[in-house]
Amino acid sequence: MSAQTSVSSADEVLRLIEKASEKNFLPIIGPYKGKLLAEEVRKAKPRHVLEVGTLIGYSAILMGNELSDKSEIVTVEIHRDEAELAGKNVVRANIPPQIKIITGDALVVIPTLREQFDFVFIDAEKSEYLQYLKLAEGKLRKGAVVFADNAGVFADQMGDYLDYVRNSGKYRSRYVQVGGDGVEISVKL
Ligand SMILES: C[S@@+](CC[C@H](N)C(=O)[O-])C[C@H]1O[C@@H](n2cnc3c(N)ncnc32)[C@H](O)[C@@H]1O
Repeated sequence: MSAQTSVSSADEVLRLIEKASEKNFLPIIGPYKGKLLAEEVRKAKPRHVLEVGTLIGYSAILMGNELSDKSEIVTVEIHRDEAELAGKNVVRANIPPQIKIITGDALVVIPTLREQFDFVFIDAEKSEYLQYLKLAEGKLRKGAVVFADNAGVFADQMGDYLDYVRNSGKYRSRYVQVGGDGVEISVKL
């Protein structure tokens, strides 16, 4: 098989989840905003990633596919069934980093985490984004990237979050439009 046609297990799992989402909508980040997420992870090369909102593992696999076995992704999902399916998808994807899936409410779980994070992907309950960030803030290294999904379509529900990352003086933040939605990418100063 040539390099051009070679497809990793991770790519196969990602395409399968995208196809499943076309039939029965799943709120995954999807291939377009996902491409941007993968690029940011590739640039940042984080050792410790925190994800808030695993669903069935699509974005965790997407990020993990950019990282080596020196990295670890901790991902939090409130619903047990989804977390279990995510676990199966992660095994099938066979990506290098360790992926630790924690079932629980991120508002309860984040304070218990001991890692210092270089990258955070926030994609759970929109009205709770600012709470997730404030709970994680003491565990963020200087220069850590915080990537928040749905900053376009749900901007009204996460107004307090957007105001905080743009105006608190603690982050350098930018909004990136992707199709009909957008993401907010903030760097901890
Ligand atoms: C938009 S989906 C995540 C999609 C996933 N990041 C992806 O792109 O593949 C949001 C997920 O966050 C979970 N969630 C919502 N509130 C949560 C909370 N407080 N703690 C942990 N997970 C939560 C939901 O159950 C849902 O699975």
